[in-house]
Amino acid sequence: MVKKAKSARTKNPAKSSRRAPAAKAAKRALPAQAPASPTVAKKDHTVTLTDNLSGKSFTYKVLDGTVGPEVIDIRSLYADTGMFTYDPGFTSTASCESQITYIDGDAGVLMYRGYPIEEIVETCDFLDTCYLLMNGELPNAAEKKKFNYDITHHSMVHEQLAQFYRGFRRDAHPMAVMCGVVGGLAAFYHDSTDITDARQRTVASYRMIAKMPTIAAWAYKYSIGQPFIYPTNEMRFAENFLHMMFATPCERYDVSPVIAKAMDRILILHADHEQNASTSTVRLSGSSDANPFACIAAGIASLWGPAHGGANEAVLKMLAEIGDKKNIPDFIKSVKEKKAKLMGFGHRVYKNFDPRAKVMARTCHEVLDELGKHDDPMLALAVELEKIALNDPYFIDRKLYPNVDFYSGIIFRAMGIPVSMFTPLFAVARTVGWVSQWNEMISDPGKRIGRPRQLYNGQTIRKIPGLKK
Ligand code: CMC
Repeated sequence: MVKKAKSARTKNPAKSSRRAPAAKAAKRALPAQAPASPTVAKKDHTVTLTDNLSGKSFTYKVLDGTVGPEVIDIRSLYADTGMFTYDPGFTSTASCESQITYIDGDAGVLMYRGYPIEEIVETCDFLDTCYLLMNGELPNAAEKKKFNYDITHHSMVHEQLAQFYRGFRRDAHPMAVMCGVVGGLAAFYHDSTDITDARQRTVASYRMIAKMPTIAAWAYKYSIGQPFIYPTNEMRFAENFLHMMFATPCERYDVSPVIAKAMDRILILHADHEQNASTSTVRLSGSSDANPFACIAAGIASLWGPAHGGANEAVLKMLAEIGDKKNIPDFIKSVKEKKAKLMGFGHRVYKNFDPRAKVMARTCHEVLDELGKHDDPMLALAVELEKIALNDPYFIDRKLYPNVDFYSGIIFRAMGIPVSMFTPLFAVARTVGWVSQWNEMISDPGKRIGRPRQLYNGQTIRKIPGLKK
């Protein structure tokens, strides 16, 4: 039984209930300008936990961030009570402190370093966003120039890495190739694996942000048997990536500015998303002081799953399986019977529209206009599926809305990006989030190795039966 301390209720009634709309609104009004500051424990706010068997009570401080739900500090709980907490999937557990990204899932809010995502996509490019996520502030003109130069000049990979690709089958999934090649970077860049050296951490981060498009584009080129295209320094990040994917040495290839802009926006939308599965994987891997390349490879592996970054690929597969609008009711029926999932719908945190999905839907229409593909039957199918689902009590009751992946697959398809490259593209974008979160963790003097506990319900002690001869 968890009770909030009475003193806190009387002294600060506005904060007595996290559900109180006024309290929530007041909290939300703070964020953008509120300076990031270390977490504080409020003197008058504690929570008391009572063991109803023994009658013993234990009191814990409540920590307050700059915005968002308060957090009960249970670090001494095991020492106090001899008990662990049980929270599979971390639905109620803050695993770290962070100043990078904030999400309010009920309100459909996403902010990087306090700036709403809708404003960032209108005013910044992807590299500005990377700088912001890594450094906490947007760059000034000189900082922008230097950062762009530094990232651009790290985009080439060690030539010997090209040999790695030849060890994979041509039909290997590009995510399998990326897990291998990114993990292998540690074997090439020894001079940026000392995690105690801030300069080396920065160099490793720059290397991964810069090289990821090259590595992903080459995974695609390898799968179709075309020569690798090297990065071009005069191109901007998104344009360069598209060029490496689609150019060949035989003829000039001009990337459409509309498509490059859309790609840039898609990269921004995917750049970070606080403590999601892959980011938590990167943090957990890094908590053992593993080298950064290994940690990001672990993040890529986690991202690959269809419940996470693999959902964009899964959406397209689902739409292909449905095939026709007339099959939607049967498909929805199978979802309600738990025989299938409506991929691209639902989110652990967003219980309202995913703000990324809104921008993505708009971008989708712009891209389809530019390419003259507005009559894409896949889009018509997706729009109809979304309409039906949004009006169905199954999805309404569970607060299941389209997430970022519902429309991204349709845009990627229109851009000519093969389905197997959808998730690698997500990895290219998310790399900056991973390295920013990893750096934040490593720089924290209070960092400890991540080591969850368990509720063991296996065999109790027993003897090995005699071996039969
Ligand atoms: N289709 C059908 N039912 C669903 C779906 C879905 N896509 N998502 C959740 N539900 C149901 C689920 O079966 C459960 O129903 P019930 O209460 O009857 O048991 C209820 O909704 C709550 O779902 P949950 O599994 O407890 O939710 P979760 O927070 O554990 O999972 C999720 C979140 C994103 C993994 C899940 O919604 C899902 O698998 N969605 C489809 C995959 C997808 O689109 N993933 C991309 C996420 S956004 C990109 C990213 O950042 O990774």
